[in-house]
Amino acid sequence: RPGAQEWVPSDGDVAALRAAAPGCRGCELWADATQVVFSAGEAGARLMLVGEQPGDREDREGQPFVGPAGRVLADALEAAGIAREDVYLTNAVKHFRFEDRGKRRIHKKPGAAHVEACHPWLAAERAAVRPAVVVCLGATAARAVLGRDVRIGDVRGEVLDGEDLPVLVTTHPSALLRLRGRGGWDEAFAELVTDLRAASAAAG
Ligand code: URA
Ligand code: SF4
Repeated sequence: RPGAQEWVPSDGDVAALRAAAPGCRGCELWADATQVVFSAGEAGARLMLVGEQPGDREDREGQPFVGPAGRVLADALEAAGIAREDVYLTNAVKHFRFEDRGKRRIHKKPGAAHVEACHPWLAAERAAVRPAVVVCLGATAARAVLGRDVRIGDVRGEVLDGEDLPVLVTTHPSALLRLRGRGGWDEAFAELVTDLRAASAAAG
């Protein structure tokens, strides 16, 4: 099966990876997206945060987590006392997958094949950034990083052994957004902050 590997520069630093990503044809998602959304942050960040895929806003702006979920994440990082320079922010899948509904583009979860196709980028980022801890935001990120399916409810907040470095799984900020204005927001936000603090502590 084709995947991103042939487009990923070997031993590339973050700048080299970023420069090469727009050329990726490792799966079909590039064709309908506006642009690749690679990452934010630099090598040496203690924490590598992995989301699912860019959303509508991210696709238009070319930056990860600049939409509503990104606002929640920024607030949670701030509440956890984590500085932006300590964070490298990326996604399991680098192109926006959506369904056209008239004028609106509705987010469509990436399939296992997209996660697998895009994995060489994530592996290269991990090697280039050398974080102390990886934080998976949601199940898609967990699958991409751990290479297996986990239930968020079973593993969230635990520091797992991700082969060569600790991995912590927490809720995706988009899941929190669905609670806004309903019950459970305060508690869910506090849990996300607690998990981010635990990741930061594990990173030393
Ligand atoms: N959700 C994600 O998983 N990633 C983004 O970049 C934005 C929203
Ligand atoms: Fe390449 Fe990933 Fe985009 Fe697919 S989603 S084209 S593998 S960068």
